[in-house]
Amino acid sequence: AIGPTADLVINNKVISPDGFSRSTVLAGGVFPGPVIRGNKGDRFRLNVIDSLTDATMLRSTSIHWHGIFQKTSNWADGAASVTQCPIAANDSFVYDFKVPKQAGTFWYHSHLSSQYCDGLRGAFIVYDPQDPHKALYDVDNESTIITLSDWYHEPARSSEGLPLTAQSTLINGKGRYINGPASPLAVINVTKGKRYRFRVIAMSCDPAFTFAVDNHTLTVIEADGENTAPLVVDSLQIFAGQRYSVVLAANKPIGNYWIRADPDFRAFPGFDGGRNLAILRYASAPVADPTTSYVTTNPLREVNLHALTNPAAPGLPFIGGADVVLNIAHSFDFNTFHYTMGGYAFIPPTVPVLLQILSGAQSAGDLLPQGSYYALPPNKVIEVTLPGTGVDLGGPHPFHLHGHSFSVVRSGDSDTYNYVNPVRRDTVNTGFADGNATFRFVTDNAGPWFLHCHIDWHLDLGLAVVFAEDIPSTATQNPRPAAWDRLCPRYDSLTPDQ
Ligand code: C2O
Repeated sequence: AIGPTADLVINNKVISPDGFSRSTVLAGGVFPGPVIRGNKGDRFRLNVIDSLTDATMLRSTSIHWHGIFQKTSNWADGAASVTQCPIAANDSFVYDFKVPKQAGTFWYHSHLSSQYCDGLRGAFIVYDPQDPHKALYDVDNESTIITLSDWYHEPARSSEGLPLTAQSTLINGKGRYINGPASPLAVINVTKGKRYRFRVIAMSCDPAFTFAVDNHTLTVIEADGENTAPLVVDSLQIFAGQRYSVVLAANKPIGNYWIRADPDFRAFPGFDGGRNLAILRYASAPVADPTTSYVTTNPLREVNLHALTNPAAPGLPFIGGADVVLNIAHSFDFNTFHYTMGGYAFIPPTVPVLLQILSGAQSAGDLLPQGSYYALPPNKVIEVTLPGTGVDLGGPHPFHLHGHSFSVVRSGDSDTYNYVNPVRRDTVNTGFADGNATFRFVTDNAGPWFLHCHIDWHLDLGLAVVFAEDIPSTATQNPRPAAWDRLCPRYDSLTPDQ
């Protein structure tokens, strides 16, 4: 683990995490990238050094610290074309930001096109010395992070805009593919009698996973960096971008148990020769594959999750009871082969949105290209409703908002509304065509923030908008280092109209 001050070298390396060798884009030369660790209140200084050379993949990069609010450091959010120009090959850039109030399970990934599908993804954990859940577990360190990733045998770029289909699921960077070798699976070692906090991170480009540990229950205590009231389940579906902390009591007979991460229909569901599996191994159990089987009778439903502290949603307790109410429909345009949100496909602007604002853009209408921007006033309650999507249009979509967590007053898989104690999180499944998700947040964080589907292929196809929050205060509230300007040499003097 590294941090809170560290170099993060991004380079190309041939690895074979599932037995198939391919060139990848990695942070720190490993997959997943090194765990970044720190404590609540820390200042992080992460020097990203771009040493990429392989032209079959993108050679520029940009790194997003998923879930970190970046209050007063919008410029460090890492979303290429929204908050910065990409870091060019052979250049470097220091992301310098504080995490004053947040703690929990986050992650980092490339936010340039679909580059993270080529490997640039890792865990980012912020510890809270006063964790309110500490009495529920004995052991919490980096060995109990469980990352779930889809894995591809071809570079993301080769898709030419079409979603690729993953060949395997990697749990902590290990997995197997159909008709591939019996490559080693990840092993999580536990000691009977101890209680573990497992931080489960869906670093997926595409599928959601159903996560379970045979014969063990999981007590959910955190969703996306927000503490929840403890909730006991025996499986959970986790969408691309989401995280859960679960407490597992190692109180079963000493032995080996399958850990499962079954991808949804987008990939290749089901058990087959060790795919989608890892091993929970008790100390002094034989080194052998488990023979356990899987039954779930109590899967997680998001409506049953509740924020632990100050759980009420902001605003008034009825649909539309907010200062600004946005209903943003999305669709797919088969002519241009792009998704649209609110009628527009998000086309990454040449001049990053933040730079456009710094250059004088005053309203959503000033921002280019037209259509994908919503100017939000400061200190207001915003309610956003996103409809669900049929399988025919690639649904269900998990939407992620940068710069905030939000109260999920309606979940994608439920038709009830909860204003009293909904879960707070930063990525929500908006459900199938008969569903929708509604969430609320308060505009207390000036800057342009991405709202997009976290299926990386869909983001590349335009399924995104930008919330330009408090445009007039954005410049003064986000002081930038000189190095930030240097990333956009060609646009130094541009105004939004040029
Ligand atoms: Cu994890 Cu905009 O992303």
